[in-house]
Amino acid sequence: MGIETSCDETAAAVVRGCPPGPGQILSDVVFSQLEEHRPYGGVVPEIAARAHVELIDGIVTRALADAGLKLAEVDAVAATAGPGLIGGVMVGLLTAKALALAAGKPLIAVNHLEGHGFSPRLSDGVKFPYLLLLVSGGHCQLLGVEGPGRFRLYGTTIDDAAGEAFDKTAKLLGLPYPGGPRIEVLARDGNPARYTLPRPMRGRAGADFSFSGLKTAVRQLIQTGDVDQADVAASFQAAVIDILIDRATAAMAMFRRDFPDEPAPAFVVGGGVAANGAIREKLAQLAAAKGFGFNVPPVHLCTDNAAMIAWAGIENAALGRFDSFAAPARARWPLYPQEVP
Ligand code: KG4
Ligand code: ZN
Repeated sequence: MGIETSCDETAAAVVRGCPPGPGQILSDVVFSQLEEHRPYGGVVPEIAARAHVELIDGIVTRALADAGLKLAEVDAVAATAGPGLIGGVMVGLLTAKALALAAGKPLIAVNHLEGHGFSPRLSDGVKFPYLLLLVSGGHCQLLGVEGPGRFRLYGTTIDDAAGEAFDKTAKLLGLPYPGGPRIEVLARDGNPARYTLPRPMRGRAGADFSFSGLKTAVRQLIQTGDVDQADVAASFQAAVIDILIDRATAAMAMFRRDFPDEPAPAFVVGGGVAANGAIREKLAQLAAAKGFGFNVPPVHLCTDNAAMIAWAGIENAALGRFDSFAAPARARWPLYPQEVP
């Protein structure tokens, strides 16, 4: 069983399987607290934590019922233990500890990013090592993935995450939260060449990202007054795509250097922004051109969900990695030792 409460989704799922996957999703219950947060234009941590408290028991009960299982029949309980909004993380992790303790099951404290990172194994059994582009509201990273706890950081954002840039641009355009899907729809009818926007970090050494300059340029553009919404959305999305392509190209070279014996490794795109069809299409073309396989988990496994947390639990459990009931909830939890907090 997996439990996810690190942001504004309250989720529980039951997954069966073993590495390398694919796994069998027996149930996958996700409740998005969108309505609770919409009036504020973003996720309010305190409201999220309270909503998780109210929802989690019912969601767990439903996940078990949908799977046709009793708690006694699951093998282990996994929960996101970070990184994320600490109040929510505590609700999910404590719930998992209570269930595991009551039923005499082992506990796995899962890193939310491992959840996103391993979801292509849950959906398609993708083999290690692969190159992962993780693009969500809170994260924007390029990682070499070799297994649980074994990540190489090729690039990370020095300011905003890609999804954050989508959300902020949407807010500037007066669109409701979350903005990513709205921008994508608007951009379909827009002219991506209408407005000239910057591509921060393009061509720089390494594979780090930056989006704050792009956001500022969008704000200044909108402040000029008379702008076409669809053209802004299309021009913004085109800039994001160019940035992602440039940085992913750099990371592919680093991955090749680290794993010279992999003839056709997978390039995997995960996180909420991977739901964007235009981004998927361009990244698929890049992968083909560079001799990488291409994999994007299905959309319901790209946005926050508990099936990916259950699967990350399976990956860790298969290596004998379980956690004690003292496992802490962590607001920050880098996947790799290199990150400077
Ligand atoms: O992975 P996720 O559900 O939550 C975390 O941040 O962990 O990602 C949510 C992010 C939001 O910023 C949202 O605007 C973005 O993913 N997103 C999209 C699309 N769908 C969701 N961004 C661009 N295009 C989309 N279609
Ligand atoms: Zn996430």
